[in-house]
Amino acid sequence: MIHKKLKPFPEGFFWGASTSAYQVEGANLEDGKGPSCQDVKELPAGTADLKTCADHYHHYKEDVALMAEMGFKSYRFSIAWTRLLPEGTGKVNPKGIEFYNNLINEIKKYGMEPIVTMFHFDMPAALDQRGSWGNRDSVDWFLNFAKVMFENFGDRVKYWLTINEQNMLTLVGPVIGTLYIPEGCKNVIKEVYQQNHHMLLAQAKAMVLCHEMLPDAKIGPAPNISLVYPASCKPEDITAAQNFNAMRNWLYLDMAVYGVYNNLVWAYLEEHDACPDIQEGDMDIMKQAHPDFIGFNYYNTKTVQYSDGTEAKEALGDQQSMSSFPGFSKGAANPNLPRTEFNWEIDPVGFRNTIREMYSRYRLPMLVTENGLGAYDTLTEDGKIHDTYRIKYYQDHIIQIQEAISDGCEMLGYNPWSAIDLVSTHEGIRKRYGFIYVDTTDEKVGSLKRYRKDSFFWYKKVIASNGADLSNL
Ligand code: BG6
Repeated sequence: MIHKKLKPFPEGFFWGASTSAYQVEGANLEDGKGPSCQDVKELPAGTADLKTCADHYHHYKEDVALMAEMGFKSYRFSIAWTRLLPEGTGKVNPKGIEFYNNLINEIKKYGMEPIVTMFHFDMPAALDQRGSWGNRDSVDWFLNFAKVMFENFGDRVKYWLTINEQNMLTLVGPVIGTLYIPEGCKNVIKEVYQQNHHMLLAQAKAMVLCHEMLPDAKIGPAPNISLVYPASCKPEDITAAQNFNAMRNWLYLDMAVYGVYNNLVWAYLEEHDACPDIQEGDMDIMKQAHPDFIGFNYYNTKTVQYSDGTEAKEALGDQQSMSSFPGFSKGAANPNLPRTEFNWEIDPVGFRNTIREMYSRYRLPMLVTENGLGAYDTLTEDGKIHDTYRIKYYQDHIIQIQEAISDGCEMLGYNPWSAIDLVSTHEGIRKRYGFIYVDTTDEKVGSLKRYRKDSFFWYKKVIASNGADLSNL
């Protein structure tokens, strides 16, 4: 649809950016924080460990001031479970409460909206030892953690996100260091979807609890949603795209919004003798929970083709590249799309397509909780970072949000990844995403000095014009 005139971004649109605790904070075992699965995982070769990251834990005031200088209306960050509850359950760590109180107060001081992710890839290591999400008690562990957060921060935090990218935890857990599989497990798919069921249940209960304890607050899920394209108009490729759309995307939102299991995924699980055990009452809880909005991360679309089930299983891939499931869908490259330096396809129009599809399925306001370009940035001798490629990426994507708004989709905000350079899930800190450059490398911790990238000044201009001015600097 070609609009003669695009609708403006709504007043009060949340322009901001995102981070996650384990990727940005550092101080990973300081002030009483316990280890999470990220702190005990085997690091991918040549990548920075998580002891320092951007050292946001010690630099949060400076970082929040820089965000305010850009004009942020919101800052999305996550709360490390193990900072509040070092063992995952039991005693609360007062230093952890203090840190997040300080961070939230600092954000509010500048009139920004804190948007809190409750869980971002960082299961307490102590709970992994007790079976992780595979243990049904995980639902109560998470609910207790949620209660601690609502009690301590609910007076100031009005926007909550439950579980970041539960779909990626389920589909590529080993790549992002999150998947716990018990020794001797005979049916890994069943184990993984049992864990997924517990997460869905934990999310549903947390949404209900949030509405009970904090009637003014809003809460929603935060999956990674990428519309899946068929590689051709062959009917079999369309079926494959429907399959993978269901497995990658709709399973998570059908449950969060409607409290039902997606039938295509359920059929796949039946085929693999992998349906999760559902206890009496579980589905009632799923139905009771109602998100107020959908938070979602978007990086690019995915393309698949028919799979006859005979091909060898491919290597897992990562969040944006995985898609092959013999007999269900087979990944294909999209020849129409360029790629980033880290080989992720770039599809701004797919952003609009994804938003439109989600809105027609769920009819809820949407908040972009991640979107962004991972790239090698260069710090020049005079302290500049000329990331014109990132500006271009954002120009191309933001205009598509405006197209989607003009299509009638309700958008609450845009919080790209990331506010500041941080450690990526498996490709180190050399894969930079921030508006703010941090002087440190995978090889050694640097001065940690902050520098404003060109995209910093550009985004400031965008926010000041409420998205009307996307022109180059
Ligand atoms: C999302 C995650 O998958 O994408 C973030 O929520 C992550 O934690 C981001 O960092 C970018 O991915 P990567 O693998 O480049 O870090």
